[in-house]
Amino acid sequence: IEVQEFDLVVFGASGDLAHRKLLPALYHRYADGQMPENARVVCSSRRSYSDDEYRTWARDALTEHVKDLEEECLERFLSKICYVSIDIGSGNGWEDLKAILDQRPDVIRAFYLAVGPDLFGTICESIGKAGLVTEQSRVVIEKPIGKNGSSAKALNETVGKVFKEEQIFRIDHYLGKETVQNLMALRFANALFEPLWNAAHIDHVQITVAESLGTGGRAGYYDTAGALRDMVQNHILQLLCLVAMEPPESMDADSVRDEKLKVLKALSPISEAMADKLTVRGQYKAGASAGGAVPGYLDELGRDDSTTETFVAVKAEIANWRWAGVPFYLRTGKRLAQRVSEIVVQFRPIPHSIFDEEAGTISANRLIIRLQPDEGVQMTVMIKDPGPGGMRLRQVPLDMSFAEAFKVRNPDAYERLIMDVIRGNQTLFMRRDEVDAAWAWIDPILQAWANSKDTPRAYTAGTWGPSASIALVERDGRTWAEED
Ligand code: BG6
Repeated sequence: IEVQEFDLVVFGASGDLAHRKLLPALYHRYADGQMPENARVVCSSRRSYSDDEYRTWARDALTEHVKDLEEECLERFLSKICYVSIDIGSGNGWEDLKAILDQRPDVIRAFYLAVGPDLFGTICESIGKAGLVTEQSRVVIEKPIGKNGSSAKALNETVGKVFKEEQIFRIDHYLGKETVQNLMALRFANALFEPLWNAAHIDHVQITVAESLGTGGRAGYYDTAGALRDMVQNHILQLLCLVAMEPPESMDADSVRDEKLKVLKALSPISEAMADKLTVRGQYKAGASAGGAVPGYLDELGRDDSTTETFVAVKAEIANWRWAGVPFYLRTGKRLAQRVSEIVVQFRPIPHSIFDEEAGTISANRLIIRLQPDEGVQMTVMIKDPGPGGMRLRQVPLDMSFAEAFKVRNPDAYERLIMDVIRGNQTLFMRRDEVDAAWAWIDPILQAWANSKDTPRAYTAGTWGPSASIALVERDGRTWAEED
């Protein structure tokens, strides 16, 4: 469905996010007929491009990142783009932007801050001072929202002075992934799972977001963040919320976010004394990935004194009626054995077996929600091995692969999210109190690490991280899914 007429202003329009994600996402929405013909994309950065020079840059970005680009559609799309150079430091350029936006003050106006977080505050203040905020305005900021609870609060306050909370869209792009949205469909559009979705029937949950790449060209930023801030504070905790939350009353933004917030607040705090037992941090050293030998993190960084973690595993618990005693093992890292993101819900074993030993082992059911790649949902069940050989049992997967079930292109998360900004739908965006609650759980872990004499454990690039992460789960008599 077509969205209403809008002006989208992209700050940081000559950067990596615009190149890889935003322009391709907008192109796809345009090509699918979702963008009205009079929509405008006002791109801005410090560089001095003419409209045509920027369109050439955008054309290159789209040629690189969009399959099946269609020339005639591309031309029409590019004609929606104009460019204005703004120097955030000196303040030059705001008048030019104002002149463009004032041409139609009544349409939806969205400011997308595709810039480093250190500029969020200044840009919002400048938008305010330039008198660009209208009733129909909204602003989009990307994670990281702060480096800890107090800096997040300060940032939210600065942004909050210019925009009302309902105008602020905090993107966590994981929430826009098709398979992540599907979690809600799976849980709340099926009668099958919900009755079993609690501590009485679920033994534990694993959430893995493993990447095979290193820090790429982002080592500078990454070194100030580390895996806990970069992935756990946002993406992984959001996934945990979607798995653990109570059924919201509706898909209305606040109903969903109220339920997620309750989960975040119910996370058992990890005290300094317990951090050693419940968390594992690692940093990759040289090793091998699919493409051959790769350097270690410190070599990539060009320094030898960084203690930034590129891997983290945490045993989390949610202290509420539904989940008490069910561990949520969370794990993420760079340069791991494989790129795979998945949620594994491990059910409890059957209470009593009626079969004799010849039947073999009866494995407990397991639901695997594969977020990427090879998106799909798999449920393992026990069946009788066919044949006359008596009652032999075998575990088989009931498999639903998205690629096989739906022969359509899997849209990128940003396509959905940008259009939701224009629609004013905040369901898939983080509310301020969620960000605060997530930091409230993360801060003591960061603090404990900072006070500890230990440094991250080294792991070889191309493996599943430090062996201590395997021990974290094995100590409880369990294993990470890929080891079964
Ligand atoms: C980003 C992190 O938020 O998510 C990156 O900053 C990470 O470090 C990326 O690589 C992973 O996203 P995706 O969509 O590739 O799984």
